[in-house]
This record gives sequence, C-alpha cells and structure tokens, in this order.
Amino acid sequence: MFETIEAAPRDAILGLTAAFREDKRPEKINLSVGVYQDESGKTPILDCVRAAEQRLADEAASKSYLPISGNGEYGEVVRQLAFGAEHEAVQSGRIAFAQTPGGTGALRVAGEFLRTNVPQATLWLSEPTWPNHPNIFQAAGVSLQTYPYFDQASNSLAFEEMLAAIAKIPAGDAILLHGCCHNPTGIDPTVAQWNQIADAVHARGLIPLLDFAYQGFAEGIDQDAAGLRALARPGAELMVCSSFSKNFGLYRERVGALCVVCPKSDTVVAVQSQLNRVIRANYSNPPAHGAAIVNCVLRDGALRSGWEDEVAMMRNRINGMREQFVDQLAEHGVPGDYSFIAQQRGMFSFSGLTKEQVDALREDHAIYAVGSGRINVAGLTPANIGRVAKAISEISS
Ligand code: LMR
Repeated sequence: MFETIEAAPRDAILGLTAAFREDKRPEKINLSVGVYQDESGKTPILDCVRAAEQRLADEAASKSYLPISGNGEYGEVVRQLAFGAEHEAVQSGRIAFAQTPGGTGALRVAGEFLRTNVPQATLWLSEPTWPNHPNIFQAAGVSLQTYPYFDQASNSLAFEEMLAAIAKIPAGDAILLHGCCHNPTGIDPTVAQWNQIADAVHARGLIPLLDFAYQGFAEGIDQDAAGLRALARPGAELMVCSSFSKNFGLYRERVGALCVVCPKSDTVVAVQSQLNRVIRANYSNPPAHGAAIVNCVLRDGALRSGWEDEVAMMRNRINGMREQFVDQLAEHGVPGDYSFIAQQRGMFSFSGLTKEQVDALREDHAIYAVGSGRINVAGLTPANIGRVAKAISEISS
C-alpha cells in the first residue's frame, strides 16, 4: 500500500533548515527559520534558564503525568504575563487554560476547539501570514479565508483595507491576529490602530484568536501585550496562543499555552472540559520540562529580572542589526530605499526579495531565506552582515 505514496513537499521554513544542514559550503548562512542567534552566531541557552534547570534538577520529585491541561501554577503565571496580573479577566477567573507543546500545539488545540464547538466559524488569516497557519487549521478541519494586511508599495500595514475587510466578515467567524512582531512582515499596528481593530472585531461579533509568539521582541514585555489588552474587554471572548520558544530560547522544549477568555467565569468549566477533550485525543497531556522552567523563572524575583534583561538584550541586538543592515545595503549600492527594515519589529524582515532572488542567494551564495523574501534578522551578525549585503547587491544588479 505504501509504494504508491508520493513525497510531500518540503516545509516552507523547516524544510529550508533541513536543506541548510545538508549544505556542505562552509560559508553558509541561515536566515530562514526564526531562531535567535547571538553575535557569534550561536543560539544560546539563557542564563535564567540554566539556573532554573539546575534548581529543577535538584528539586525534582516525580515524573508522573501532568493534568490534561498542564501545570496549574504555570497557568497562573502565563495568564499574568500575557494579560497583566491585575487584568479584570484574570481577576474574575474567566480564562480557561491549557499548557501546550509549543505555540503550534496551542494553535492546533484552538483550531480543533473551534471546529468542534463553533463549527460554522470560518477563520480569517492575514495575507501574508506564517506558512504553517494554513497547515495547522486545515489539519484541524477549520475553513479558512484571508484579509489584507500588507501594502507592498509602501512596505507598511494596509490598515484601511484591513479594517474594511473586517467590517465585512460574517458575525460569528474567527479572525487570527499576530499579537506582536507580525510573521512574516515585521509590521505591527500602533496602539491606536489596535484599539480600532478591537472596536471593529467586537462590533462585528468575531472571535479574535491571537498568535502571541514573540512577547518582548518588539518594544518590551508589557508593551507587546497592547494588542491583546485592547481586545480583552469586559465580557469579550478571546483566544490567545502563547509560545516561549523565542523569548525563553526554549525552542526544542516545546512550551506554549492556550488561554480562552470566556464571557463569564461560569462558562469556564464547560470550555475547559472541551479543551481537555481535544488534548486527551491528541497528546493526552503536555510535556512538563519547558513549562516548569518558565514557571520557575517567572516566580523568582531574581531569575525574572535576569530574564527581562536577557529578552531586552536579544531585542536590542536584533534592532541594532536592522539599522546596520539598512546601512550595509546602501554601502553595497543595492538599489532602492530599505529604511523600512529598521522600522519593522521582531525577528523578521519582509525584504522585498523575489522568489528568484531568494533562490539565487541560496544557490550562488549559500544564504538561506524564506521563499516569500522573509529574512530572519536575528540570524545576522557583525561577521556575516557585510557578506549578506554584498550578495544581495550582486543578485539585484
Ligand atoms: C518561523 O516562522 O521561522 C518560526 O516560527 C519557526 C517555525 O516553526 O516556523
């Protein structure tokens, strides 16, 4: 039976990392997958994570199963980090919660929860979006549509088009918004625009689903929750998928979370039971280690302040690389104005490179970027940035 199976296409992002690993050219540079690298090109384990792991190893009591929805203490700190400890939704206990294997796991649980409990809802994705979004929601059986997000001519948010599209989405549908550091464009709404988006989403009676994978990488840990907090209004429903891959550097530990904000606290029991049903049939209960680290760091004053410093250090390094990249492109005579790269936020820059140019960068220069032209700015270093700019100048001429 298996002999007739055709090979699936390579994944748009992780498939490139696999090709990068196979590439024998020593000068190769990976600017595809969203993984932070320090100045020396390494993806470090954060100091706060090492300290927490040591403490957890010393204190480990059991490897028995966690509850289906995960570690309750972790649930408390994650709600507080995302919403703010004093937020009405946190205080009134109207947030159902699941610890999930990464942000991807949270999105998949959210998708299956929607398909089973709000089966008529279509989910609207930004155009463009993370290429794994359609994969995840199609696999969950959710029907999909798109709304405009990016204005290519001005390299900015297509805000009016986005609002006009939201105003036409049928009531009861769901809309996926990127909480900060939009992937792949690096372009986020301002706080004032977030308030208008929240007005439009709630006026239309839509279910907002926030993909919140980069908290702390745009402006700051609290500032980056502005969109979430604009949407989390009294009595309003909201789903939030968090990831701690990037801001704790815990990529391979697969640690994420799903918060489902219910209209009233007495709705939480039913919603929680439906989340648990989805999870039990998928992976039964979550892996413990990554969430235990996040819980340990966020509950300890010294570790938490160390973590905040380390997030700021990563954010500042990326923003510094953005400025230098703009300068280097100009110095190497790449035609056009690339100053927009310095305005974008998070790991990614939508560079404007065409698919053919991305292919030429990979084939002729061993530089890997995503086919959409997305570059992982967090993969640029003082040692490689000049070569990247030079290669772009060569493929642009
Ligand atoms: C990315 O967009 O590169 C990251 O979110 C990693 C991934 O899984 O695709």
